[in-house]
Amino acid sequence: MRVLLSILMLTFFVSCSKKTFVEDKVFAGGVHASAWKLNKGEQIYKEYCMACHGVKGDGKGPAHKGMKVPPRDFTLGIYKFGKITTGELPHDRHFYDILKYGLHGTAMLPWDLTEGQMDAVVQYIKTFAPKVWEGKDKKLGAEILPSADPFGEAHRSAAIQKGKEIYHGVANCQSCHRGYVSLEEFSGINKKINGEGVAELDADFYKVKPQETEYGYLSIPPDFTWDHVRSASTVEELYVRLAAGVGGTAMPAWKDTITDEEIWAVAYYVKSLMDVKDTPERKTLMSKLK
Ligand code: HEC
Ligand code: HEC
Repeated sequence: MRVLLSILMLTFFVSCSKKTFVEDKVFAGGVHASAWKLNKGEQIYKEYCMACHGVKGDGKGPAHKGMKVPPRDFTLGIYKFGKITTGELPHDRHFYDILKYGLHGTAMLPWDLTEGQMDAVVQYIKTFAPKVWEGKDKKLGAEILPSADPFGEAHRSAAIQKGKEIYHGVANCQSCHRGYVSLEEFSGINKKINGEGVAELDADFYKVKPQETEYGYLSIPPDFTWDHVRSASTVEELYVRLAAGVGGTAMPAWKDTITDEEIWAVAYYVKSLMDVKDTPERKTLMSKLK
């Protein structure tokens, strides 16, 4: 009996000392995470996430090699797809959405986790970037929610036309992404918006242009008719992504650069480009681009 008791005591102490976290933490936005939750988050992380994101959270897990889009390095404390202006800290539910729906076209697949499991693992990944997350004084970004859609389904074609003009003539999205209009149409758009036509197209007008990132690799802006858009499928989700930008990359937050109505118009236009992906219409569109 005595022996059994001491074995029990011993296993109790060993299992206690194995716990990484013994104290609770307070993260940005006053989010409280108990030591119990952080330890649970660590377990979930080791089971499901570590293979890609790495033991140290640096994105260098055994499975990361050769991935076209590398796993996020959590030690940097910067994130691409929060629903906040780029550079600010995302809310927990923004991370939950990424876990629930995955990031289309990347190795980051959707996960079937309970709310409690998502909460635990999200709190845990914050511990890889303590300087960014820990402390009562740290603030989360203001959440970007979709405003009232000024177009709606009834005015879809007008929105797409306007979005095409903003894309090529005002925001110049093709300076990183690619153009989707002919020289003639581009010239017409410029004449209408900037008062002057255009005689020729840049040599790389129809090419996407890789951009530097804060993650230490080049990011290739998507061709919407060919590549996946990672964090958005609907016009509304595109609105949020355009307003927010993509953190740590060259993709700006458009919220304070173009008007709200213009963001909606461009969202409709980008959605119309995404809709021709994998359809014969893509070929028709491409054949007109000269
Ligand atoms: C098979 C590899 C793989 C596994 C397993 C994986 N991820 Fe990822 N994860 C990725 C890749 C790749 C990206 C980067 C996508 C990008 O940059 O667009 C990513 C990005 C992320 C991001 C960053 C989102 C942002 O806004 O920047 C978070 C958070 C994340 N993963 C959490 C997790 C969690 C939590 C788990 C475990 C439940 C997990 N991942 C498992 C590959 C993986
Ligand atoms: C200065 C360069 C730059 C400009 C200008 C730019 N983008 Fe981007 N954009 C990028 C990069 C780089 C990415 C890829 C980010 C990543 O690594 O996921 C991107 C990604 C995107 C995405 C995909 C988001 C996702 O969830 O995967 C959309 C949609 C997008 N841009 C739309 C636009 C539109 C519309 C405009 C003009 C209003 C624009 N971009 C202007 C660089 C730019």
